[in-house]
Order: sequence, then structure tokens, then C-alpha cells
Amino acid sequence: MNPYEMQRARIVRIYRLTDDVKFFQVRPYMGTEVCELNYRPGQFMMISLPGIGEAPFSISSTPSRPGLYEFCIRKVGRLTEKIFELKENAVIWLRGPYGNGFPVEQMEGHDLLIIMGGLGAAPLRSLLLYALDNRELFGKIYLLHGARTPDDMLFREEFLELMHRDDLVCLLTVDRDDTGRWPAYTGVVTELFRYVKGIDPKNTYAAVCGPPVMYKFVVEKLVELQIPKNQILMTLERRMKCGIGKCGHCAIEYIYTCLDGPVFTYWDVLHMKELI
Ligand SMILES: Cc1cc2nc3c(=O)[nH]c(=O)nc-3n(C[C@H](O)[C@H](O)[C@H](O)COP(=O)(O)OP(=O)(O)OC[C@H]3O[C@@H](n4cnc5c(N)ncnc54)[C@H](O)[C@@H]3O)c2cc1C
Ligand code: FES
Repeated sequence: MNPYEMQRARIVRIYRLTDDVKFFQVRPYMGTEVCELNYRPGQFMMISLPGIGEAPFSISSTPSRPGLYEFCIRKVGRLTEKIFELKENAVIWLRGPYGNGFPVEQMEGHDLLIIMGGLGAAPLRSLLLYALDNRELFGKIYLLHGARTPDDMLFREEFLELMHRDDLVCLLTVDRDDTGRWPAYTGVVTELFRYVKGIDPKNTYAAVCGPPVMYKFVVEKLVELQIPKNQILMTLERRMKCGIGKCGHCAIEYIYTCLDGPVFTYWDVLHMKELI
């Protein structure tokens, strides 16, 4: 099979998440047949528009809700500007899924700390929804999500709803609230760690994704909590072209981030500082 083979997908739903990020729900199809989708949380797809370009985007949906892929896309350049102009029912092209994704089978039976900031919500929403859909397979679940302001928080309404559930602890924070109506915390995401209680560190997996500055401070907290370094998982980004280990664009020494990542353990990062 041609590893570069692309698949058509129709956009079935679009909505605005923040000023510069939109949510896209797409349904891949072949002829009139809807395709089966197999992927794991943390994997990404290459999305392209003919004549414009192609780039990797994390899958935000969960394989436990089959039939649709969901993406959150930030408008930053040529391709994403064109994707932003598309309307529901338009066709885009997909390759993938690619990357290692989260080791969800190994994570089963453990407590989970899911820590996200900014666009880091894109891959971690997939893991969160997967864990909630398979709730009996996991121990305690903590979601820690930080944004600059309430308007900048991706999936704000969806996550505010989660605060009412009693089978996870959903901790949301914003650096600044000018509305006076924000119902959760203010302060940086690391301040939320004071509400993380009763987890068994040796039996906990932490998954982190956010802006580069977030990793250092969040990892310090996780190490303080004594979570083993091989159970601290980080989703990292590199510029990618082929997505399948052929072009070398994403290589760091002997590591191809498109194949060996984008999910790495803190151990990997300690051994290869260039990863962050
Ligand atoms: C595994 C993975 C998952 C991702 N998931 C998401 C996601 O879920 N949502 C999302 O919005 N984005 C995601 N991205 C990022 C996305 O792929 C890029 O933003 C993509 O480049 C956008 O394409 P573009 O043509 O619109 O912008 P580009 O023209 O590629 O520009 C994007 C940005 O990169 C800068 N840039 C351009 N060329 C270079 C260069 N050679 N070196 C350094 N900087 C350069 C530009 O100035 C601009 O700020 C992900 C990336 C990876 C690797
Ligand atoms: S993107 Fe081509 S080798 Fe990774």
C-alpha cells in the first residue's frame, strides 16, 4: 500500500473555539462508503488541501466514539488560513493516523493526571474522553487545564460541564479573568496541584501537553509528587513533512518524532534535551 495514500473526508461540523482556533468534525469516506477509523489517543493525521499544502494535526476525538475524526486547528499560516475559510460539507484530504499515541493499555488500572494548556487540549481531549468512555478501566482521574483568559480556553463549555461529574476531578484555571463571571480558579496551572489529593504516585500516569514554558514547571510538580519518570508522558511537536519517517524533517539524532513520538516519557526527554 502507498504510505502517502490520502483519504477524502467531508467536514460535517465546524464551530469556533477561540478567536484563532476552530473545531472541525470530519467523516472520512471512500465512494459512498464511510471508512472505519482505527487510532489511539495522542496520534495525529496529516491534513491537506490540494495546491495549498499539508500539515500534521492532533486527533481530538476518541476512538471509543467511532465514525468521526475531530480536530482543533489554530490559524497560523497558509494552510490553516484556507482551512478556516472552508464551510460544512467541504472536502479535505487526510493521511494517517501517524505517531505512537498514548500507551493506553499500559495506563489502564492506573490513576491519571491530565494536564493541558492552550492548544495542548487538542491531543489530551482524546485521552480524556477515551478514559471517561472506559471509566471502569482507570483509577482516579484529574484534569488540570490552564488558559490565559476564559475566552482563550479551548472546549471551555465542555470542560465546565465536567466539573459537575463525580467520577473525575476537573480543575480549570485562567491566568486572568476580566469578566467577573469565571466559575473556576484563577492562577497558573501549576497552582492547581495543591488540589490533587489521594493519588498513589507509583500507580499514576501523568500526560502533559501545552506551550513549551509549561513543561518545565509542570514536570517539577510531577517529580515532587514522585510520579515515576517513565510514567510522565509528554506530547511534543516538531516541524514535520512526511509523517512516516522518510524525509528526516523531524529527526533529532536517531529519533524521528513522527514515528517515535509525538508522545515521549520524561526519561526520553532527560536523555535528549533537544526534544523540548
Ligand atoms: C504532531 C503535531 C500535532 C499538531 N497538532 C496540531 C493541532 O492539533 N492543531 C493545530 O492548530 N496545530 C497543530 N500542529 C501544528 C501545525 O501542524 C502547524 O501549525 C502547521 O505548520 C500549520 O500550517 P500552516 O501552513 O497553516 O502554517 P505554516 O506556514 O506552516 O506556519 C506555521 C507557523 O510556523 C512558522 N514557520 C513556518 N515555517 C517555519 C520553519 N521552517 N521553521 C520554523 N517556523 C516556521 C510560521 O511563521 C508560523 O508561525 C501540530 C504539529 C505537530 C507536529
Ligand atoms: S516528518 Fe518526515 S521523517 Fe518525520
